[in-house]
Amino acid sequence: MKQSELDFLNNLRQASDYVAQHRGKVCVVYLPGELLEHREQLQEFAEDISHLNALGLRLIIVMGATLQINQALEQAGIEWSTHHQIRITSPDMLPVLQRTIGEVRSMLEAAFSRQQTHHPFPLTLCSGNWVIAKPRGVIDGVDYQHTGLIRKVNQTALQAVLDSNQIALLTPLAYSLTGEVFNLNTLEQACWVASKIHADKLMVFTSSDQMSGLPKQLSLNQLTHWPAQNANQADLIQCLADNAQQVKRIHLLNESDPTSLLIELFSRDGIGSLVFTDRYHQIRQARIEDVSGIIDLISPLEQKGMLVKRSRERLELEINQFFVIERDSHILGCAALYPHPNAQAELACLAIDPSYQGQGLGEELITHLVHKAREQGIKQLFLLTTHTYHWFIEQGFVLANLDDLPPQKQQLYNFQRQSKVLIKALT
Ligand SMILES: CC(C)(COP(=O)(O)OP(=O)(O)OC[C@H]1O[C@@H](n2cnc3c(N)ncnc32)[C@H](O)[C@@H]1OP(=O)(O)O)[C@@H](O)C(=O)NCCC(=O)NCCS
Repeated sequence: MKQSELDFLNNLRQASDYVAQHRGKVCVVYLPGELLEHREQLQEFAEDISHLNALGLRLIIVMGATLQINQALEQAGIEWSTHHQIRITSPDMLPVLQRTIGEVRSMLEAAFSRQQTHHPFPLTLCSGNWVIAKPRGVIDGVDYQHTGLIRKVNQTALQAVLDSNQIALLTPLAYSLTGEVFNLNTLEQACWVASKIHADKLMVFTSSDQMSGLPKQLSLNQLTHWPAQNANQADLIQCLADNAQQVKRIHLLNESDPTSLLIELFSRDGIGSLVFTDRYHQIRQARIEDVSGIIDLISPLEQKGMLVKRSRERLELEINQFFVIERDSHILGCAALYPHPNAQAELACLAIDPSYQGQGLGEELITHLVHKAREQGIKQLFLLTTHTYHWFIEQGFVLANLDDLPPQKQQLYNFQRQSKVLIKALT
């Protein structure tokens, strides 16, 4: 088989796990006006959204138009002011906003209509007055006039649109119960709606400076305390922290690459930054179906002599002694705990996938095993290591002698390997 065919097969296998996981999930996509500026990018975006729809995701697009509104106001010779970086919307701006947002929406609908020729099912965008707005009000004596905040969202009506397999489209305009028109900050709206309806995913297209220096994954709590590298990043962090608490996973993507949607959702490591409010990985007791994943993880380390060789049969027999770190059905780490007489236990076969080392997973796994050992009444943990004793010392283990091991373990000691003995008292 050619390498390209092998790569295709591997990618397809990886993606198919995610197809099953994402089917039926609600996904809110924030689309800034900048991404709508380039016809080709917009068309690629529409195509990817069509694929997501065909793969069973339930989609809400929140369309921004700040760039286009700025241009239209300049052309109309209308000046605007801001307070706390938020535009004040005066009554004379409203006709310009309504016209511009209508035009942008029409551009988006046209791009989606073009997709219908390539897909067996007609793909429709549907917009409506599901979001009820209220005035942002007067802050520090400054009246925001027609700049609004979200008051509530008609979830039943929105749900009905998703149930009918249409894509719901929200624009920056919303109306109050008194029938007044309000201009909303669309990122705020995307976060707020996603949070309110407990969306599974919020995909946010951001600028390069907003992504600058962010790691590939972090919790919302870590993001909230992240030292922002610029004012735009600080605004983004603030907006997510204030409005997106109830969204399980927020994916930050670079707006210069609209194709990142598919890679982010259907490959294990994605392409953007993932902000999670649920636990992204879990540590659990290993099951028999994990044996192959554990073998993939430890075989290279066995070959380097860092771990003692274990056959598949032995792993199958001892699987109940193992714990694994799992993410999206992939084993990222493992370790085993073997009880011995006299309230001692051996910690063994600790390994973290090299692509995920240095993220604190090793420490998290050790902490979990120490907790489990305490639950079992273990008073002392011991281990043998040839390469990693400094790391274990940092985890609170101390160097010990052969005599400190249980007698049965002393008899099995391999003097050729010359492993270091480390112990940790669990008081
Ligand atoms: C040891 C191991 C489990 C640590 O996992 P991890 O998830 O990367 O660990 P953490 O993120 O909690 O800690 C990373 C830190 O440990 C350091 N570290 C990793 N291996 C080390 C070693 N052999 N000696 C000293 N320090 C080490 C890293 O440099 C990093 O330090 P930093 O935070 O100052 O940059 C992982 O490196 C591994 O799987 N190693 C190969 C298998 C192995 O040696 N297992 C133990 C056999 S008993």
